[in-house]
Amino acid sequence: MQHSRRVFCGSLTPEDAGRRVTLAGWVDAFRDHGGVLFVHLRDRSGIVQIVFNPESTPDGVFHRASLLRAEYCIAVQGRVDRRLPGTENPGIETGSIEVFVDELEILSESEALPFTVSEKAMTAFGAGAKTDHVAEDLRLQYRYLDLRRPSMRDNIMARHAIFQRLRRLLDGKGFLEIETPVLTISTPEGARDYLVPSRVHPGNFYALPQSPQLFKQLLMIGGMERYFQFARCFRDEDLRPNRQPEFTQLDIEASFIDEEFIYQLVEELAVEMFALGGITLPRPFPRMSWNEAMEKTGSDRPDLRFGLLFEDVTSIFADTGYSIFRRILQGGGRIKGINIAGQSEKLSKNVLQNEYAKEIAPSFGARGMTWMRMEGGKLESNIVQFMSPREREGLVRQFRAVDGDVLIMVADTSPAVLASALGQLRLHLANRLGLIPADLYRPLWVTDFPLFEPAEGGGVTSSHHPFTAPDRTDFDPADRDELLTLRSRSYDLVMNGEELGGGSIRISDRNLQRRIFTALGLTEEEIQAKFGFFLRAFDFGVPPHGGIALGMDRTVSMILNTPSIREVIAFPKNRSAYCPLTGAPSTVRREQLAELGLLGAGKKEVLPGPADGEDEVERLSWVSRIRVLPGERREIEETLRRAEALARQAEERAGDEEPVFSPAPAANRLRDGGEARTPDPAAAEKLLKLSPSVKGNYYKVPGILD
Ligand code: AMO
Repeated sequence: MQHSRRVFCGSLTPEDAGRRVTLAGWVDAFRDHGGVLFVHLRDRSGIVQIVFNPESTPDGVFHRASLLRAEYCIAVQGRVDRRLPGTENPGIETGSIEVFVDELEILSESEALPFTVSEKAMTAFGAGAKTDHVAEDLRLQYRYLDLRRPSMRDNIMARHAIFQRLRRLLDGKGFLEIETPVLTISTPEGARDYLVPSRVHPGNFYALPQSPQLFKQLLMIGGMERYFQFARCFRDEDLRPNRQPEFTQLDIEASFIDEEFIYQLVEELAVEMFALGGITLPRPFPRMSWNEAMEKTGSDRPDLRFGLLFEDVTSIFADTGYSIFRRILQGGGRIKGINIAGQSEKLSKNVLQNEYAKEIAPSFGARGMTWMRMEGGKLESNIVQFMSPREREGLVRQFRAVDGDVLIMVADTSPAVLASALGQLRLHLANRLGLIPADLYRPLWVTDFPLFEPAEGGGVTSSHHPFTAPDRTDFDPADRDELLTLRSRSYDLVMNGEELGGGSIRISDRNLQRRIFTALGLTEEEIQAKFGFFLRAFDFGVPPHGGIALGMDRTVSMILNTPSIREVIAFPKNRSAYCPLTGAPSTVRREQLAELGLLGAGKKEVLPGPADGEDEVERLSWVSRIRVLPGERREIEETLRRAEALARQAEERAGDEEPVFSPAPAANRLRDGGEARTPDPAAAEKLLKLSPSVKGNYYKVPGILD
């Protein structure tokens, strides 16, 4: 059979009836119906039903067909026929035809599968196999099988289509696709670097780029004028559902441009990309300063699919008798709130008081939450009695409250805590009350970010990266308070509460760039050592330039509405930055370390790796991110030994039998122990002093759970 002359399964239509065709692909599903064998044959283009009928199929072929199992790779020849009325299957692309087979070649058999690949029912309106319950690590371990699933194939093909559309558009606008190095030096984007040891220069390391930032600016200085690249970036940072240790950016830079150029360009690209997913984005995209975003939503990436915007009601309570508010205002605090319009019926007193005020708001870091509702033209709640008529009237006016509305308020002395707590309440309420319409996409440019943020232990750090142009240049690099008032010429593209991209107009003046480094606390030697080569380029005529990078994994995931960005990446890492398919990262041989000059690196006598006699319990604890309590070690060791013994026993009993895969559904297990408690604020403050990073009354820990 000449395989190269095959036609694609998904391309057959009723017009092909009577045609003899060669097909090749995988057995998606099969069934024996009264001695006639029906097989769903699947290739990249789709699925077609092929039929082996003992009356018309040669005996030998029919016998071989009876041996077919799921995911055998086969080629067939046969005649296309229209299906009989009533036997059509609208669930597959080619559901009105089938192919009567007279030749079959089994190209490669398949073992029993670790999970079902087939997603399409063989009969009209039958339920396709569901793969949702398959543990993600198992899917990643057998990613090549997972990729055969039509839904994954569709994701990968859509990603390809989006990338190609972007390439064509950018090429049409005179952008050059240029690759930049992957083995390079550290690029400052705020995460940790992945390092690669050099064999040729023992003791020296390359860093994998966190972004091509330095190189794209050097390309502008090199006169390339318009650059783009689908750039792989590497960041060793705390994992979140929308983050991967390596990810892809559409990286863009252009010379002799301003912010407007980037807005117009990226809006056009976004409209085209989302259109491929059937989503219409109206232009122009609205813009909001960082300040307004924080004031109105408590977030620098506001979700604008629903209202619930903040009102600042501090002035209403300027001389209040309500003691909680008074104390906070005396401490320089502010009071902000949200009108949850028309939701009074859905938010009972019990929910507002016992769930939101007592549990949910404190869990977001708020000291408390005040609530009231509008009934019969008046505010009602357990605390309105403590408010003066003027304060009550002021609230009704400012919140434009009418009957059926619920008002919530949070007061705090820290603007950051207030924004974060009320911002999280806003999202929680929107989700709970079903206020987020499905299929709505609300793009937004967030602009004018602070140039610097306070650094831990004094000084400042860049909010984005140190090459971002400030809004003014007459600042004193030694004046921390002044530095914290500077804004940057930067912009983030935000969609539905997610940051899809970010960029800025760059500094193109060498003295300004030097002053920014000084403001960041770098000494002359440090500037030379880290960025000397870069600053040197500024001595030779720098064009004004700027750019942006769009996170392509996030963007494609949003267009396709997938539950995680891993669904649109062919071979992603799992939630612990581990690759279940290849086992990366892995230990390496001691010889390899020696060759790289890494024996004794970090002045450690003992090397990592199997030679250490690895501590199983510690590894388990590390992988699961669950601290082992002193009393638990013995029990865990015993459980591990029992599990090993059980596995050995199973292996012996199974003999030559093929193992059957049956992944147990994942579930949360709770450890017996003290109940979670919200700490007393004074005690918490003391405790949190020692924490490297704090949010409200809580330690920040790596977010490893989706
Ligand atoms: P930034 O750091 O904002 O900007 O990154 C740009 C976009 O990349 C995406 N992104 C990620 N996606 C998946 N996993 C990650 N770990 C991850 N980190 C970031 C986000 C983000 O908006 N050099 C600058 C761009 C510039 O100034 O032109 C930069 O890298 O969608």
